[in-house]
Amino acid sequence: MTSTLRVRAMGPADLAAAVDLLADAFAEGTNLASFVPERGRRERLRRFFTVAGEVDVLAHGVAEVAVSGVGAHERLLAVAWWHPPRAVEAVAPVSWSWREVPSALAVFGVRRLLAVARSRRASERARPAAAHWHLAYLASRPEPAARGAASALLVHRLAQADAEGVGSHLESSSVATIGFYERFGWRVSGLVDGPGGRRTTAMWRPAGGA
Ligand SMILES: CC(C)(COP(=O)(O)OP(=O)(O)OC[C@H]1O[C@@H](n2cnc3c(N)ncnc32)[C@H](O)[C@@H]1OP(=O)(O)O)[C@@H](O)C(=O)NCCC(=O)NCCS
Repeated sequence: MTSTLRVRAMGPADLAAAVDLLADAFAEGTNLASFVPERGRRERLRRFFTVAGEVDVLAHGVAEVAVSGVGAHERLLAVAWWHPPRAVEAVAPVSWSWREVPSALAVFGVRRLLAVARSRRASERARPAAAHWHLAYLASRPEPAARGAASALLVHRLAQADAEGVGSHLESSSVATIGFYERFGWRVSGLVDGPGGRRTTAMWRPAGGA
């Protein structure tokens, strides 16, 4: 099925399927999951990604999907959500919008909300000062047909970043994915200390790759 793999922009009609994929992929072993109570975690993550999709990525970001098949047979295999290059001061503020607050409460619970806010602040501080593409979320389906789908999304967007002469920043949510990103020219640029001893890895890819 990978022969029919295509990358295209994600639209509002794709949100539900993209949210399901992201919630499943991030439910275990990721930094995000460590903030979400175990009970009802997938449901909570679905809510998180739905609001992030609507309020942030579909409104201000660049969302892309890798799919196979066409028409009614089209199947979503991987999702990438990016923030495009812009001056660092224009980046979405750390504070939550009115739409996100009730959602954040439902997703994380009252007790973890402060930790989540601290983590967001640490992530924002880790962003490079220069304009850059920011890979916010990347996930693929854990099935053979999806092989190469996440890579296709990265190759597609990085070709544009290279043409623009702009670098790319990300925070690797799990240590296991560092090697994956290194294949595309990202290198570890620092460690991001979050609340409760949590630590993620910042990675930077200069235009053209490392
Ligand atoms: C990270 C993720 C998107 C990678 O997706 P994937 O489906 O493995 O990606 P692809 O099929 O495009 O690429 C896989 C290739 O990368 C390689 N690879 C995967 N993980 C690797 C690692 N840690 N180090 C080095 N290579 C790695 C595979 O061997 C494979 O290589 P091949 O095609 O030459 O055989 C997927 O594992 C995922 O959704 N994880 C859960 C969510 C997550 O952690 N997202 C990233 C958060 S920062």
